[in-house]
Amino acid sequence: MNPNKRPDDMKRITTPELADAFIAEQIAALREQIGSKKVLLALSGGVDSSVVAALLIKAVGKQLVCVHVNHGLLRKGEPEQVINVFRNQMDANLVYVDAVDRFLDKLAGVAEPEKKRKIIGAEFIRVFEEEARKLDDIDFLAQGTIYPDILESEDGVKAHHNVGGLPDDLQFELVEPVKLLFKDEVRVVGKALGLPDNMVYRQPFPGPGLGVRCLGAITRDRLECVRESDAILREEFALNGLEGKVWQYFTAVPDFKSVGIKDGKRTFAYPVILRMVNTTDAMTAQVAEIPFALLQKITNRITTEVPGVNRVVLDLTPKPSGTIEWE
Ligand code: XMP
Repeated sequence: MNPNKRPDDMKRITTPELADAFIAEQIAALREQIGSKKVLLALSGGVDSSVVAALLIKAVGKQLVCVHVNHGLLRKGEPEQVINVFRNQMDANLVYVDAVDRFLDKLAGVAEPEKKRKIIGAEFIRVFEEEARKLDDIDFLAQGTIYPDILESEDGVKAHHNVGGLPDDLQFELVEPVKLLFKDEVRVVGKALGLPDNMVYRQPFPGPGLGVRCLGAITRDRLECVRESDAILREEFALNGLEGKVWQYFTAVPDFKSVGIKDGKRTFAYPVILRMVNTTDAMTAQVAEIPFALLQKITNRITTEVPGVNRVVLDLTPKPSGTIEWE
């Protein structure tokens, strides 16, 4: 039997009962596979790695070592939430790595999107590798691989987004407890494991994070404009019942300024671009229709609360011709 093929008779996990059965089954399988050895996991705080962490904590407790790399490109509140949920509430063995300066120094002056992506990916592996080398007797590497990752990597559409590329002398046996699950099932399991809703129902977030939304060469001031405007957008969507109703919504900040006016004085500051889309598979996407009054409220909040921003614009482009991210 191919362990990477979902059995035809595997029932879709849609209810808490089915999730509980899956969790019990996986805990037994994980204990069997891992025994008394140690497991390492790169914990981003995204739904897949969070569910894998929660499963492993239940199965093997402190034999799991979670490494959370803060590369400075996470959304507002995310590193804090990872620490709070996993270290404080679940009592996990969590190594928190503040690599913000390291990433931003490497990215300084680099404007080309693919180059930025490569730097972020390579630096992530390097930081993770350094942390792994500090630890003794790790035998297993856990990954939040899900079934679409397997399907997509088999037909070559998209490379695995998970940790790959570790050097040959640092290889582990893989532990991938959710590799046969679809995203909706991972969420049902995450909910049953007691993870907070804003972690379980998170919108998709690219690996290079806000790095693809801080356009051109990343600077700390514009990165803060992206992070703060994104937080306001998410807060307003949640307050207005749109969380979970719109597939993906975020802000991007370009690397040019325009003239504005504030308190009777001329300003020269950045614009914030609002992007809100609906899609089923991210291959095509439609612009979500948002009530105009809410758009005005978001604009007002961003232009008054985010330093260095004097204008908000709305991206009305479906995919194609625009991609979802701006990069
Ligand atoms: P585009 O911009 O190509 O994005 O229309 C399609 C979807 O993929 C997300 N995306 C990523 N997801 N790692 C990910 O896990 C990445 O490197 C990455 N880049 C883009 C994007 O947010 C959108 O949902």
